[in-house]
This record gives sequence, structure tokens and C-alpha cells, in this order.
Amino acid sequence: MSVRRLAEEQFQPAGFSFNAENIAWAEATIRKYPAGRQQSAVIPLLMRAQEQEGWVTKAAIEHVGEMLDMPFIRVLEVATFYTQFQLKPVGTRAHIQVCGTTPCMLRGAEDLIHVCKSKIHPEPFERNAEGTLSWEEVECQGACVNAPMVMIFKDAYEDLTVTQLEHIIDRFAAGKGSDIKPGPQVDRIFSAPAGAPTTLTDDIQPIRFNDTPAPAPAKAEEASVPPANAAKPVTDAPETDKSLKTPVTAKKAAAENVKQKGDNADTARPVEKEVAPAPAPVMDEKNRPAGIERPETPDDLKMISGVGPKIEATLNGLGVYTFEQIAKWKKAEREWVDTYLKFSGRIERDDWVKQAKALAKGGEAEYIKVFGKKPR
Ligand code: FES
Repeated sequence: MSVRRLAEEQFQPAGFSFNAENIAWAEATIRKYPAGRQQSAVIPLLMRAQEQEGWVTKAAIEHVGEMLDMPFIRVLEVATFYTQFQLKPVGTRAHIQVCGTTPCMLRGAEDLIHVCKSKIHPEPFERNAEGTLSWEEVECQGACVNAPMVMIFKDAYEDLTVTQLEHIIDRFAAGKGSDIKPGPQVDRIFSAPAGAPTTLTDDIQPIRFNDTPAPAPAKAEEASVPPANAAKPVTDAPETDKSLKTPVTAKKAAAENVKQKGDNADTARPVEKEVAPAPAPVMDEKNRPAGIERPETPDDLKMISGVGPKIEATLNGLGVYTFEQIAKWKKAEREWVDTYLKFSGRIERDDWVKQAKALAKGGEAEYIKVFGKKPR
């Protein structure tokens, strides 16, 4: 967690005032609170000031304090407490807040931070050369089930892999961030099980909260395991890109909202984007590891920590039967398999390659020598 202070004087503008539209909105917002409770409007007013200026300036804090008849220090306390408020200029197209709390960290947040460091700036809160992107690490954003995740302004992007975050950053850098559907970036609805429902599947259609088409049938995981000699899975990248685009219906809804805003600026609220079917992971088929015919005595891949019976069956379906094969996987191949298994970086974290190398070299004895414990 970073120390949260106001930006240095050289960044601070001389003054602040809401523009005409925002002043009308702010006055209407203050009127919503009962007499004597107007100070409760401090958060919405600060947020509006941030949306207008791009960040919360000292002058904005003082202006909001005056509007609400509130000591400046109280407004400052609010602005410095919530990481939703930016206290210095951030990227104009995206400020990426990477959750670094335990569940996200266990599922690969550190790798996401490395992506931000390499693609944006080595230091948090520093902008890239164009001034369009910045990043920081924040505490839990309340989407732990979908870890790891990032927030970009008001939207959350969840179930991320390194490849997906790189793609998201590239789209925002190009000014095309709206192409990316917020929410889970894997085949799941909100925080429902990835792939398909796992409970109450008998002849009962799951209750849905929107019009999202039903996911694959309940036995999707088994069905997704191709036979050893099956053709490679179809993973067409361009189509994946298309599926990431905002659905036409959402654009229509947004247009309606703009009209509504014009009709009634006080009550207009952003229309929630329609949740499109989750995009298939970005996978480049050339990186799929080469498979082999099933040998007479395949290795027990379950000896690798992180591989259970189902994952072993899936690997076998890809033509992967031996430790030696896994030990030779290059980074791109590991990422391919990781995405295919929807593992969010687990192959790297569990270091399958190191485990497989030890098992291929000397079985259990070598594994104990390397890791100081028995394989599973
Ligand atoms: S730990 Fe990351 S969202 Fe909760």
C-alpha cells in the first residue's frame, strides 16, 4: 500500500470550480441529503471533481469543503483514505490499479505488476512517455473469487493472465479500451464456476441474472478433453478479438443513455453494459506443445504438484504423456497450456518444468533431492 499524500505544489493548479453541468449536478446531489447531513455528499462530489480534472487537486478538495461547509482536513481525510481518488495526475487513458492482496497475489498478481512495470513505467504513479497510462498496486477490490484482477477507473477486469493484461494495456494505449469487456476474462459469468455450472445441473436451467447466453453444458470440462489423436483445438485469435468488442446492443444502450442524460441531467445514470459471452482466452496455435502417441507406459503426471486426475486426462488429450515433454516446454508453450487449462499462471507458480525435469531425470529420488519433499 502506498503512502497517500497530495501531489507536490508544482503539479497543483491555482484554483478549481465545477463546470456548468457539474455544478448543477453537485447542487442536485447535495439536495438529496436531509438537512444537516449535506456533508454526506463529500464522496460523490470528490469523484465528480476527479472525473472533471482527471485527479483530485488540493484546490478541488478546498472547493468541495466550502460547498459542504466542511473543514478542509475532513475532506482531505476522505480523499487520502480511498484509493479510488487519485492525488496526482495519472494516465489519461488508463490508470491500472493492480490488486496485490493475498488471494490475487496467490493467483499471479505479481506477474501482472511486472507487466505494468515493463509496459508502462518501472515505478507506480509514474506515467508512460505519452502520459496516457499509469499504474499502482492497491488493496483488495472485492473480487477475490475472480483473482487476479485490476481496476481501470470504474471497471474491473478479472481472472487475468499475463497475456490478457498485456492485451488490455495495448488496447487502452491505443485509445480502444472500450473494446474490452469488463468483468471476468475467462469463460464464466460473474463469479460462477469457470466453464459451466458444477452444481444443480440435473435438468434444471441455472437462474440467470441477465440475457447472457447459457454457457457450455455441465460436462464441458470432460467434453473439452480431445482424444489423443484429435485435431488441435480451434482457437482463432482474430475471432477472439472480435468477441472482446462491446456488443452492438450495449452501444445502443449507451446512445439511449446519452439522450436520457440530455433530458434529465440530475437522474441520468450510466447504463450498465450488457454482459456479452465471456471471450475465449487468447491463444496462438503455433505455441501449442507438440503431442506424441500414447506410449505403452505413460508417466504418472499426477506426481507433479498441481496436476490431478482431470488435468492429467486433459494433458493426455493434448498428447502430453511424459515428464520429459513437460520439462522441455518453452515459455510460450507453458503460457499456451496455462491459458488452455484456465490456470492463470499456475504452471509458472508451481514450476511444472522444474518438477518435470527432476522426475524425468531420476524419478522420486531426484525430486526429493531437488525439492526436499516427496512428489504428490
Ligand atoms: S484480493 Fe484481489 S480482489 Fe480481493
